[in-house]
Amino acid sequence: QRSLLRLLSCPGTVAADLRREEQFSGSAETGSEDRTPKKRFSEVQEERREQAQRTVLIHCPNKISEKRFLQYLSQHGPVNSHFFYESFGLYAVVEFCQKESVASLQSVTRMPGLGSEAAVPFRSRYFNLKLRNPLNQAAEQSSVHCSHQSSPSSKKLFELLCCAESVDDQLTALLKTFQLTEENTRLRYLTCSLIEDIAAAYFPGCAVRPFGSSVNSFGKLGCDLDMFLALDEIGNFSAQKTSGNFLMEFQVKNVPSERIVTQKILSVIGECLDHFGPGCVGVQKILNARCPLVRFSHQASGFQCDLTTNNRIALKSSELLYLYGALDSRVRALVFSIRCWARAHSLTSSIPGAWITNFSLTMMVIFFLQRRSPPILPTLDSLKSLADAEDKCIIEGHNCTFVHDLNRIKPSENTESLELLLKEFFEYFGNFAFNKNSINIRQGREQNKPESSPLHIQNPFETSLNISKNVSQSQLQKFVELARESAWILHQEDKECRSSNQPWGLATLLLPSVTNNISFVKKRKKPASERIKNLLESIKSSSTENSTDTNGK
Ligand code: CTP
Ligand code: MG
Repeated sequence: QRSLLRLLSCPGTVAADLRREEQFSGSAETGSEDRTPKKRFSEVQEERREQAQRTVLIHCPNKISEKRFLQYLSQHGPVNSHFFYESFGLYAVVEFCQKESVASLQSVTRMPGLGSEAAVPFRSRYFNLKLRNPLNQAAEQSSVHCSHQSSPSSKKLFELLCCAESVDDQLTALLKTFQLTEENTRLRYLTCSLIEDIAAAYFPGCAVRPFGSSVNSFGKLGCDLDMFLALDEIGNFSAQKTSGNFLMEFQVKNVPSERIVTQKILSVIGECLDHFGPGCVGVQKILNARCPLVRFSHQASGFQCDLTTNNRIALKSSELLYLYGALDSRVRALVFSIRCWARAHSLTSSIPGAWITNFSLTMMVIFFLQRRSPPILPTLDSLKSLADAEDKCIIEGHNCTFVHDLNRIKPSENTESLELLLKEFFEYFGNFAFNKNSINIRQGREQNKPESSPLHIQNPFETSLNISKNVSQSQLQKFVELARESAWILHQEDKECRSSNQPWGLATLLLPSVTNNISFVKKRKKPASERIKNLLESIKSSSTENSTDTNGK
């Protein structure tokens, strides 16, 4: 919020300011020349997981003396970092330097006396802090600074976008405003770690890892938390230790299929979360889905969680997206703006249905960037050809091999601006032959559709699957129409008419009704240039062509 307020108070310098704040990557405008080395996905996961294991979550009184709070906790060992946030009450996330401090804190923590109700005595790392003498202590308490865990209101977003200097700056500003903060990322890993403690009661040594947009660098504040319960790590661990003439195996219960194993495991974990998981509410077991899952809300963090198991390929695709996001700083800026654009026009929804998903949109952006000349992103096949023995990965018979070391991938020579890329994205997909072609990031070129779903985007690793099988013809049609209209608006934009109190550029595209905006843009524009006339003609002719394209099979 502080940074947002600062941005709002300094029109004209948004991108410059944001770039100074940039910690992880280079300028979103200039592309890849200023790429800074990033950590490998597996390194980030391990570091964050270990950090989360040294961290506790504390529900605090609404006002608290920060100094006394930290003094109290440091009895158990030095505190490495902490932050507060609000979510139906005040919470603190406290990271100790050592794991032992957590055990020490747990050892002096009592079970609550609940009066008429009874408590399930589960000793988690989620605590409740109370004042011993509320009346005497109240005077010492004060409000603490809270880090924000949600995105700004649309009003603030429009103010922010309108005071940017260029469309490129708008895209960069949008990225900075919506991307997961350091604190939000920590809270995500901590939530997984708390769930891991519960799952570990059944499966000691298991790991609960976040995947999807929480870790693939494309997550917006407020996105769901996809979790993966990894049990095979336990097996690998013991297998490494086996030596000598004998081979020891566990006695196990056999069931007819892997799917049934997954369903049984998720069923008990779901029960456990429901009955013993502090703060886990609204637990739903969705075990008959293609990928069985347990859905629940983690009240204290405010995250909507989807827990799956036996889903290692999805973790691999998160790793692939992380790599693509790190390769060129324009990728994330473009993906965020497309995700926000799709949300603003209800092309995507938090409710499952016939809509396009964010995952599909991200694949479309990656594909589009592979199709530029020169390409901005390499194909998955070329990432595979750069892989070495260490990168080799086969999961359930699917080849998931690709290079993990960013330094081995040559930066792109393409210097196109974000503004141009945004326009071209809308034009490209506004005219894409969805009726016959499939989007395929493995080869980076259109392929004939192997089946008749309206939208076909090949799963990068399970190549026989279509990640957008759910999308209906009418939703695809809506996407195509909005893409065309948005391309048209961007071409219409007249730089001289930009003002800080009227929507322009990306802000116009995010307004709820594009059709209304067209009339708004029309009124204040000068006569159309030759290029716009041509564009209009091409849109007109392709819309007659494509209305049969997208409808016809
Ligand atoms: N996934 C997949 N195939 C699908 C849907 C999802 O492989 N048809 C995997 C992807 O790795 C995806 C992850 O599951 O990133 C989580 O799915 P989802 O939550 O739908 O997408 P996110 O990328 O997390 O985006 P969002 O911010 O909308 O949650
Ligand atoms: Mg998700």
